[in-house]
Amino acid sequence: MGIKACILNLDGVIVDTVRYHYVAWRRLANELGFDFSETQHETLRGLSRMESMEEVLRWGQVYMTEAEKLHWADVKNNWYLACLLQMQPEEVLPGVLSFLQNLQQTGMLAAVASGSRNAKAVIHTLQLEPYVKLVMDGSTYRKPKPDPDCYLQTASALHLPASACLVFEDMPSGIEAARRGGFPTIGVGLKADLSHANLTISGFEDLTLAGLLEQMEFSLSQSV
Ligand code: G1P
Repeated sequence: MGIKACILNLDGVIVDTVRYHYVAWRRLANELGFDFSETQHETLRGLSRMESMEEVLRWGQVYMTEAEKLHWADVKNNWYLACLLQMQPEEVLPGVLSFLQNLQQTGMLAAVASGSRNAKAVIHTLQLEPYVKLVMDGSTYRKPKPDPDCYLQTASALHLPASACLVFEDMPSGIEAARRGGFPTIGVGLKADLSHANLTISGFEDLTLAGLLEQMEFSLSQSV
C-alpha cells in the first residue's frame, strides 16, 4: 500500500479534550448570563476557536463586536489552558501510546493534524513529543476541516504524497477533509458516523500498523 506516515487528529483520537473545552466554553456562557448543555457542546467538536465562539454566542443570542469576540475567545482560552494543567499523561486514550511506539519501532512517521491551536501544548502535556514528528495545528493552516488544507500541509511538511499518509479521524468533517485531499482514511469511533472512511476502528487497543494495513487491504478488496 506504500504507507510511510500516519497522521492523527488530536481531540477524540489521541485524547479527550472535549470535557476541558466544555468547562471553559460554559464558564464563558455563564459569565455572559446563559448556559448550554453538554450535548450542545458536542457540536463544537472539530470547529475552530472563532467558529466555536460564533456558535456559543448564537446559543445565548449575545451580540459582540469583532474586537469583543477576540477578547472573550482569549479569556476562554486562558481558562482552557488552566484546565490543561490538570491533564495527565495517563489521559492518552487506550492503546494510543503503544500504537505510536509501534509506529516508531517500524520506522513509520507519526504526525498530528488538529483544528486546535493548543495542539502542541496538549502533545507536550501528554509527553508524546518523542513519538510525533510534526504537529500541524489550527494556527498553522488557514482553512478548517472539511477543507483538506491541514492534511495537505501536513503531508507536504513530511515531503510525502497524500496516498502515502494514513489519516485517523473521529469526526465526519475530518474524514471528508482527508478524502478530498486524496488520503486513505481510518475512522476512529462509530461506523455509522464515519461510513466514508476506508476502514473504521473502535479504538487503538491491541492495534499494530501491520494488523491495520492487513484489515485495510481486506476491506478495500471487499469494496471492489
Ligand atoms: C478549538 C475550539 C473548540 C473545539 C476544538 C476542536 O480549540 O476552541 O471549541 O472543540 O478547537 O479541536 P482551540 O484552538 O481553542 O484549542
